[in-house]
Amino acid sequence: MKQSIGAKTLLYPHPVLIVCTYDAAGNPDAMTAAWGGICSSDPPSIAVSIQKVRKTYENLMATSAFTVCIPPANHVAEADYFGIESGKNTDKIRVAGLTAVRSEVVNAPYIGEFPVVIECRVMQTVEIGIHTQFIGEIVDVKVDESVLGADGKPDVEKIAPFIYDSAARTYRAVGREIARAFSAGLALKK
Ligand SMILES: Cc1cc2nc3c(=O)[nH]c(=O)nc-3n(C[C@H](O)[C@H](O)[C@H](O)COP(=O)(O)O)c2cc1C
Repeated sequence: MKQSIGAKTLLYPHPVLIVCTYDAAGNPDAMTAAWGGICSSDPPSIAVSIQKVRKTYENLMATSAFTVCIPPANHVAEADYFGIESGKNTDKIRVAGLTAVRSEVVNAPYIGEFPVVIECRVMQTVEIGIHTQFIGEIVDVKVDESVLGADGKPDVEKIAPFIYDSAARTYRAVGREIARAFSAGLALKK
């Protein structure tokens, strides 16, 4: 029997996204966001929901551009730090010992040490309670050569992303492949 646990922001898995922005003076910031994901295939788009009190919110309103970096598991401490300190108080990327690199296609930085970078231009905003959802058109995606597989595609095991469990407030590694997509269900299709 199922038990009600109330209206919660529960979903498995939550992604761990690092949203990088510049402020109006060109100072870089990075914040952790779990409330986000791909929201259209054409144009390729990603949405992140940001509270108005965040430095990142101010920056997005000033520049209309951001990158989403995928942090690898060996940088979990830095990714968590970006979610518990504000760019209003400090230069988080410098304190974390990481490198802010200027995107060549949008007015936003990215973390040089993180293997996947999604470069976005804000297309639209949607007000949802205490969050503003920023919908970004994906202008380009940059992937370190070191995380490409033999087939030239990004290899999830080499990227080593991790997920957020909001109920337990923990981070977890991404597991092994269990089936082929668009294929495992074929046997059931009439
Ligand atoms: C795992 C995790 C997920 C988070 N997800 C979000 C989110 O989706 N949206 C949001 O506004 N804040 C989120 N936060 C909180 C911000 O990352 C945090 O307030 C951060 O200090 C904001 O940085 P900034 O002021 O430099 O923008 C999250 C924090 C953590 C640790």
